[in-house]
Amino acid sequence: MIENIDNLCEEIKEKITKVSSIKELNDLKVEYMGKKGIITELQSGIKDAVDKKEYGMKVNKVRTTFNENYENKLNELNDIELNKKLESEKIDITLPSTHISIGAPNILERVVEDFEEVFMSMGYDVVDGPEIEEDRFNFELLNIPKGHPARDAQDTFYLKDDEILLRSHTSPVQARVMLEKQGKEPVRMICPGKTYRRDADDATHSHQFMQVEGLLVDKGISLCDLKGTIDVIAKNLFGDDTETRFRPSYYQFTEPSVEMDISCFSCKGKGCNICKNTGWITIAGGGMVHPNVLRNCGFDPKTWNGFAFGFGAERCAMLKYGISDIRTFYQTDLRESVTFDRKDV
Ligand code: DAH
Repeated sequence: MIENIDNLCEEIKEKITKVSSIKELNDLKVEYMGKKGIITELQSGIKDAVDKKEYGMKVNKVRTTFNENYENKLNELNDIELNKKLESEKIDITLPSTHISIGAPNILERVVEDFEEVFMSMGYDVVDGPEIEEDRFNFELLNIPKGHPARDAQDTFYLKDDEILLRSHTSPVQARVMLEKQGKEPVRMICPGKTYRRDADDATHSHQFMQVEGLLVDKGISLCDLKGTIDVIAKNLFGDDTETRFRPSYYQFTEPSVEMDISCFSCKGKGCNICKNTGWITIAGGGMVHPNVLRNCGFDPKTWNGFAFGFGAERCAMLKYGISDIRTFYQTDLRESVTFDRKDV
């Protein structure tokens, strides 16, 4: 074989040229350079050669030929592989990008945040309470005993017997906070939260809605303090020229009780369809905490008194942003939410 050295070199070149994959190339390497490969065997024949120098040079030529051609082919195949990969992973930076819509905060959430901000600036704590509530907190401690007709005003979702319910207002949090304080220290808190009633949903009713409850218990508090507080809130939420007024009302847990109105921010009191031509809009209920409630919740009404109030959050948001249907808040229609994007409001 060594005599046909040139033929062998040609054969190697030809075979390597025809190779089209790295696997085939490596198979050739085994065939020629492996343990029992053609070139390896030639190399071991040196011991029997007559002219060892010449023999060695010839074998070297075959080996160099193989190695050179092998290296070149390997580079060539690697390049092809790389180009294929680049082609398949090509990114066309001129293509238009996919539009990702950015969400917007729910407008109701924003109004609640506004409430929290003003009340916190007046030293109120923002507290939370359970939405699944006991009858005791939702009604009894608030001076609404079982069988009392005042319960009918709040068509309640009962979950278990007559004891466990979905809170029909945020007022039970008043009782919870007072009991926690054990009649020993003043209370200043608001509780924004979800509430539930068995109402048929329509433009102004939703079986789930939000209230912002408030309670202040201290010594020597009067209805004037409530008036001053509501005044600050009204001006903050609806503008500096907003005026407030109280009208007599009735709640079981406050005495006296009031309905709180603001002057119509739209017509400034002249009369329009927002204020139904009265010039005034009701935004909350409240009053002085009933002595029975204080007593039920561990506060001695001879020493302590206070006021409480409850805002309807949706009502405030609807008035402020001119929303005519309460269901807007709960239908998560992005077209509506985007209208009230933080940037635009
Ligand atoms: N809980 C009342 C309701 O759902 C609202 C309310 C009125 C809360 C007077 C109060 C209050 O704290 O003092 O209609």
